[in-house]
Amino acid sequence: VVCTCKWVSTILLLQFCCVGCGFCGKVLVWPCEMSHWLNLKTILEELLQRRHEVTILTSSQTFLVDYHKPSAFNFEVIFVSGNQEDAEKSINYFLDLAVNIMPTLSLWESAKLFQNFFLEATEQFEEVCRKAVYNESLMEKLRETKYDVMVIDPVLSCGELVAELLGIPFVNTIRLFMGNTIERYCGQLPVVYLLMCLFSKQAKCVLTLLKSSFSPRRPTTFCESMGKAEIWLIQTYWDFEFPRPYLPNFEFVGGLHCKPAKPLPKEMEDFVQSSGEDGVVVFSLGSMVKNLREERANFIASALAQLPQKVLWRYKGKKPATLGANTRIFDWLPQNDLLGHPKTKAFITHGGTNGIYEAIYHGIPMVGIPMFADQPDNIAHMKAKGAAVEVNFNTMTSADLLSALRTVIYQPSYKENAMRLSRIHHDQPIKPLDRAVFWIEFVMRHKGYHSLDVIGFLLACVATAIFMVTKCCLFSCQKIVKTGKKKKRE
Ligand SMILES: *[C@@H]1O[C@H](CO)[C@@H](O)[C@H](O)[C@H]1NC(C)=O
Repeated sequence: VVCTCKWVSTILLLQFCCVGCGFCGKVLVWPCEMSHWLNLKTILEELLQRRHEVTILTSSQTFLVDYHKPSAFNFEVIFVSGNQEDAEKSINYFLDLAVNIMPTLSLWESAKLFQNFFLEATEQFEEVCRKAVYNESLMEKLRETKYDVMVIDPVLSCGELVAELLGIPFVNTIRLFMGNTIERYCGQLPVVYLLMCLFSKQAKCVLTLLKSSFSPRRPTTFCESMGKAEIWLIQTYWDFEFPRPYLPNFEFVGGLHCKPAKPLPKEMEDFVQSSGEDGVVVFSLGSMVKNLREERANFIASALAQLPQKVLWRYKGKKPATLGANTRIFDWLPQNDLLGHPKTKAFITHGGTNGIYEAIYHGIPMVGIPMFADQPDNIAHMKAKGAAVEVNFNTMTSADLLSALRTVIYQPSYKENAMRLSRIHHDQPIKPLDRAVFWIEFVMRHKGYHSLDVIGFLLACVATAIFMVTKCCLFSCQKIVKTGKKKKRE
């Protein structure tokens, strides 16, 4: 019996080894720019750590995904007509539009203007898509590499089309689509949907692409392809979200990039310490907004000057004339380390998901100045949870900003609520980054869900069970025969 047990445990161990560890796969990535990339990079670096091979499919026009530098990532570059400068110009135009122009127009006018910008941008995305899927040698090369999984940021559509053409299972990683339309409709969340015209335009493009060049295949739409995602990694968690229905292949991994604070650079630490009992305020409008109109920068600076706190402001524009002695301007801030500093009292933020999560992680109350994309939605969540006060970027006065800051610093409920969110955030059995990577590896191991290796594993389990039962039967039979013989002799 002992021998049989050893056998069985060896078989079981072998099975778990094949499934559980020592698996190195190939990951193909369809990224997006800006904060999206910074977030995705955390996941990709963890995949590298676990010895997977990571290849990033990027357009030559990118300005964050630096494929020129030597890197542990592999790059497949899609060469397009525009260069990095054009991309930067277009981003700056978008910022000007969203921050300065649109708020001065009526809702209808600004929607029209934004639609125009969006359609133009769609044309650029379409070029990248065409240069990827129509390049037979590129597609063949990707096909031959036999990737195990694709990780896609679907904000720039086309990743799902590449995955479909290559026949690779894929994982979507996003914060949200406007009104959660794509998640609800394409990801089949059980809620009635409204499909936006903006996206139907993209869907049409994808449909035509497929019809014209891959005729043996059944044409597909953007949404149909998106719906084939094995897993959706959503960049929020229940510290941030309100209860809502979702499917089991949605994983909420908000704050996966957050880490405990590291010590600050000496000079910055001295400045922070000089604040004494009053503490400091951290101010950043994110990686995209680099400068403000002079008049606006001036009344922000004059509001900050009236605080007893010291202020660290990430700002690249011209130094405002009204800048107070308590305020220091920096090109760049170690934001996570500052938010984790015991002297930090408040965070003034544009409301990007990454920054909000760093504040939740460290339990810091916020003043939100949302501008575009998911920022207003993010701040609305924080406001509803009692951890933030919102000020309107376009209509605010110095007094508004100052009173918002005083509220979050001196009304204890804001700090308490921020700490409550922080406790919820930290109260998870598995860290968000580990969960994100686990589900990507899960898809790699099981090739989606209904694949042969899963069936193989189940068959092996059945075989083990049959083997054990047979052994047991044989053993009992032998025993019965032996006792029978003994009885006869007696
Ligand atoms: C197609 O892809 C190959 C391999 O990545 C690349 O060398 C080539 O320049 C591409 N062709 C075009 C027309 O973009």
